[in-house]
Amino acid sequence: MGPKIGVFLFSGGTNMKRMLSGIKPTGQLHLGNYIGALRNFVKYQDDYDLYVFIANLHCVTFYQEPKALRKNLKDAIALYLACGLDPEKCTIFLQSDVFAHAQLGFLLTCQSYMGELSRMTQFKEKSQKADESITAGLFTYPSLMAADILLYDADYVPVGDDQKQHVELARDLAQRFNNRYSKTFVVPEPLIQKVGARIMSLSDPSKKMSKSDESDKGCIYLLDDLKVVRKKIMSAVTDNYATVNFDKENQPGISNLLEIMSSLSGEPVDSIVCRYQGKGYGELKKEVADVVCKEIETIQSRYNEIVNSDLIEKTLQQGAEKASRISYKKLKKVQRKMGIDIF
Ligand code: AMP
Ligand code: TRP
Repeated sequence: MGPKIGVFLFSGGTNMKRMLSGIKPTGQLHLGNYIGALRNFVKYQDDYDLYVFIANLHCVTFYQEPKALRKNLKDAIALYLACGLDPEKCTIFLQSDVFAHAQLGFLLTCQSYMGELSRMTQFKEKSQKADESITAGLFTYPSLMAADILLYDADYVPVGDDQKQHVELARDLAQRFNNRYSKTFVVPEPLIQKVGARIMSLSDPSKKMSKSDESDKGCIYLLDDLKVVRKKIMSAVTDNYATVNFDKENQPGISNLLEIMSSLSGEPVDSIVCRYQGKGYGELKKEVADVVCKEIETIQSRYNEIVNSDLIEKTLQQGAEKASRISYKKLKKVQRKMGIDIF
């Protein structure tokens, strides 16, 4: 028994809870992705057995220009690393490198009902506003996302609140499968942080900051020129109240700036509000711009070192090997339980 205990103690991840999340870089990564997702992964890598991957299969549920997509994928990995994800502490990989995702995705599509997929808010919104034809892939997107999660027995899935409904579907599918075929999957929990879960557009604070913003003014990209970043913040839409309050309903623009500043500086929103009593919006915007530019400048300088190094390829190779080993075992188990394999 002695050596076994030794292995257990020194294996580093055995008694850690497992956490997994994905990012879908159909555009450049922005401040909303950073505050709502990426930055938290960096914190989690010390305390959890963390898996993060680039959801490139999810990207092609809508047509992507291949050259632009390839650049976005590479930039996303470089930015993951630049923001502080460490391939020695967590597993970073590309979804399409690990074949079990598409396979389990299909098997879980066969466990998903048309009704529940039709009720997914993201599908409803995207299919209403799209001017091109809607693919079947967009419809079955949540089943593939469930496969991403369930393959790794993830305990926690940190996401922005727009993705909560999809994680809930993954829970439903895990329970449905476990009930039908006996216990196979861990039922995952979504992890939604309170501050910064929904960063809003600077030009229209009623909408979330997104790469699909009609105007570029509302969205700060992590690779934007710092002068552009400052300009976008200084011209953020506010209101006529002329007092700094955290009131998302009546002062969504100011509340959004407070939330951005608080999540980057760590200073509680209340304390920022106190400091700004009797002061103007211009001053607040200037401080928000300083805080955001400082953070982005650090990320960009690391990004420039990484983007043309071989760290990206090495990271993905190492990540795909580990993720493939784990996910293959789970896929085999699922196939066995469903009776679709023979030997
Ligand atoms: P997406 O860019 O939609 O693929 O999102 C990648 C991750 O960033 C997901 O966890 C999202 O929930 C999160 N995210 C995207 N936009 C925002 C936003 N405006 N505020 C906070 N989190 C966001
Ligand atoms: N659908 C997620 C998004 O658009 C990305 C994603 C794909 C994901 N698979 C995942 C997130 C699994 C968490 C877990 O942001």
